[in-house]
Amino acid sequence: MKTPSNNYQWVTTEDGSQTLHSDLYGEACHSTSGAKTETLLHYLEGCEVTTRIERFSPFEILEVGFGLGLGFLTTLEVLGTERSWHFVSMEIDPDLVKWFLDEYKSLPIIADAKWITPKLVEGQYQNVKLSIIVGDARVEVAPFLAQKNFHFHAIFQDAFSPKRNPHLWTVEWFELLRQHSHAECILSTYSASSSIRKSLLESGWKITKGHKFGPKRSSTRARLTGTNDEDILTHLERSPVTAIYDKNVGEFILKSKGES
Ligand SMILES: C[S@@+](CC[C@H](N)C(=O)[O-])C[C@H]1O[C@@H](n2cnc3c(N)ncnc32)[C@H](O)[C@@H]1O
Repeated sequence: MKTPSNNYQWVTTEDGSQTLHSDLYGEACHSTSGAKTETLLHYLEGCEVTTRIERFSPFEILEVGFGLGLGFLTTLEVLGTERSWHFVSMEIDPDLVKWFLDEYKSLPIIADAKWITPKLVEGQYQNVKLSIIVGDARVEVAPFLAQKNFHFHAIFQDAFSPKRNPHLWTVEWFELLRQHSHAECILSTYSASSSIRKSLLESGWKITKGHKFGPKRSSTRARLTGTNDEDILTHLERSPVTAIYDKNVGEFILKSKGES
């Protein structure tokens, strides 16, 4: 398969599925322990999509980081097109979006997809809608969401790691996501970092542990109702790291470099 641009290389992961390594961020888009398995575990299962879709129509999913589209393709494979769902994602690199639209043009929803503006691609097939916001999420997502009336039921928080992509793990970012979430939203992410857990807590999310996958000790789920996991709170109270705010992203990057 051709790569989206010279900035990416294909990596075959341990379950046989492929991911892309980004030279721009110095990181792969998925765990090398299994891109597809990780997507199923952290996002489809993590957000309890197959059970909760029966209660909300359309079921609204927000993905942070479109990448090579594996989150969308896996959701399509699991949910099909009979039930009603809307998948909204965002991607800073237009080369990835152009590559995806070309690579998957045999899928009806992609064959139908159009550039509505230079910053938005949309496609629809049967009861499924796909919207990809193209550009820097910190600039493009708030105005896009302000014009719509989304109440996301699931959030796949799948940016690159907090060290490489800190702007999408800040208190301000999670506050924006909370404002556009349904009261029963589940946000799921592969990260178990204390900083991002503090960012989630300070922006009003309740956090619990998610599945362990590959070498990571756990992952994180967040809800707007319920209680926090006591073990996590005890651990965070002892941890010297702080939540990430837009104003301290620079400091966070410097400290992270010191740690690695
Ligand atoms: C870990 S990958 C996402 C993988 C994807 N969910 C999949 O299943 O293929 C993270 C993606 O976030 C994108 N990204 C990073 N910073 C961004 C930003 N500020 N705005 C929008 N997208 C961003 C990267 O270009 C990358 O494609």
